[in-house]
Amino acid sequence: MDFSIKPIEAKTGLLGVKTGCIAVGVFEDKKLSAGAKALDGKGAITAALKSGDITGKAGTTLLLRGLDGAAAERVLLVGLGNEESVSEKNFQAAVQAASRVFSNLGTNEATLALPFEEIKNRDVSWAIRCAVLAVRDANYRFDTTKSKKEEKGGVKKIAVLTSSAASNAAKTAAAQATALANGMALTKDLGNLPPNICTPTYLAGVAKKLAKDYKFGVEVLDRKQIEALKMGSFLSVTKGSEEPPKFIVMKYNGGKPKDAPIVLVGKGITFDTGGISIKPSANMDEMKYDMCGAASVLGTFRALGELGLKLNVVGVIPACENMPSGRASKPGDIVTSMSGQTIEILNTDAEGRLILCDALTYAERFKPAAVVDIATLTGACVTALGHHNTGLFTRHDDAHDALAQELLAAGKETGDTAWRMPIEDAYQEQLKSNFADMANIGGPPGGSITAACFLERYTKKYTWAHLDIAGTAWKSGAAKGATGRPVPLLTTFLINRANGK
Ligand code: BES
Ligand code: MN
Ligand code: ZN
Repeated sequence: MDFSIKPIEAKTGLLGVKTGCIAVGVFEDKKLSAGAKALDGKGAITAALKSGDITGKAGTTLLLRGLDGAAAERVLLVGLGNEESVSEKNFQAAVQAASRVFSNLGTNEATLALPFEEIKNRDVSWAIRCAVLAVRDANYRFDTTKSKKEEKGGVKKIAVLTSSAASNAAKTAAAQATALANGMALTKDLGNLPPNICTPTYLAGVAKKLAKDYKFGVEVLDRKQIEALKMGSFLSVTKGSEEPPKFIVMKYNGGKPKDAPIVLVGKGITFDTGGISIKPSANMDEMKYDMCGAASVLGTFRALGELGLKLNVVGVIPACENMPSGRASKPGDIVTSMSGQTIEILNTDAEGRLILCDALTYAERFKPAAVVDIATLTGACVTALGHHNTGLFTRHDDAHDALAQELLAAGKETGDTAWRMPIEDAYQEQLKSNFADMANIGGPPGGSITAACFLERYTKKYTWAHLDIAGTAWKSGAAKGATGRPVPLLTTFLINRANGK
């Protein structure tokens, strides 16, 4: 997909725009946007609204052909809702609807002439990013594993019309959004790949390829090196699997050598059967998505590489399978983590925290400015927040409140929202073990919180946040597929950090 920003020609106006299809906004109450007015000519658009063919409700569309006086072959009317100052939500619905129509049109190129500069509380950069992400999402297909590839029809080139005053900001925003969309596409692809292809070794290969393409550092540790680091907790999870574990470390050095890095840690369970505490069969295939935390780190690194941000970022991915076998961990096993703390494994299905705790201890060596881990950690988080918000967990002090605010704001900015949850000592007590320093489960009450409390015990040496993406990383049912979340949140967080915001 190719995006170009074009200033609206003062002389010819929208009537003179030669294009396969031009999208303009209409409002409820039968009102026309400035773009629609410019194309109304003998009143065809007014008539369409009057007749009720389009209501103007946000996300409704009507395709017209051969409009009087217009150089465009088609005019797509897009509903923007009832206010002249368009809300974020309505604008998003409008660009999503226009994107869907574009992806099925019989023309190669189209033009968006929506009110990018008139969104309530948002600037033109926000609106352009919103449009680019919507178009890329509508065009995303996963057919790597189909024998016959779908013919991709529809629009391939989109011109976005803005005022000439806004065109520089719009160009920057379109380039940033394209990098972000490319990162999300990688995250989606990795999530959607089947678990017999997307193994720990495969993820390591992707990290190496990215490092080569964008010239950043990468190191892949194998079982022997993981043993030498004494990651007893991580090793206990991989024990039951024939697939070799990998510990992936990526280093993006866009900042000054002495700048403390942000460390992103992604859960990379390439398949989670539950182990000996085996999961029920129904929908178990979806546990191929248990590496979406890792995939979001790789996707964010792709975006980082394209954006060339001026800051240092380290990516850490513990990757393995969680399988039952004669060599698998058993409930009751006690293991020693890299930190020295011992863990009684009461449920082998609570394996995410077991691989993450060692990765979080490993992260200490980077003397990080902040560490953010990303994990499809608990079904309980889906129960608590559903599929709309990622769970955000941090300690509750000033430094952590500030980090939480940054992450929440980054999510809000891109519609990739998170919701903050508590971490308190009262919950820590549920992790008591009679035989080890802690148990790996805290019982059913507050399951996503006790999981975060477990991780918290390995993050005392730095500022840390945990993102539980169990409800947001993929969709189930007919629309089954990875969402690419939380790459927008993470990338925007890093962009804001690089800008010193
Ligand atoms: N990967 C799962 C979490 C999960 C389950 C994410 C379903 C999305 C949908 C994780 O490893 C897990 O199995 N967690 C257990 C923890 C429990 C045993 C304390 C869970 O959530 O049931
Ligand atoms: Mn599990
Ligand atoms: Zn898991």
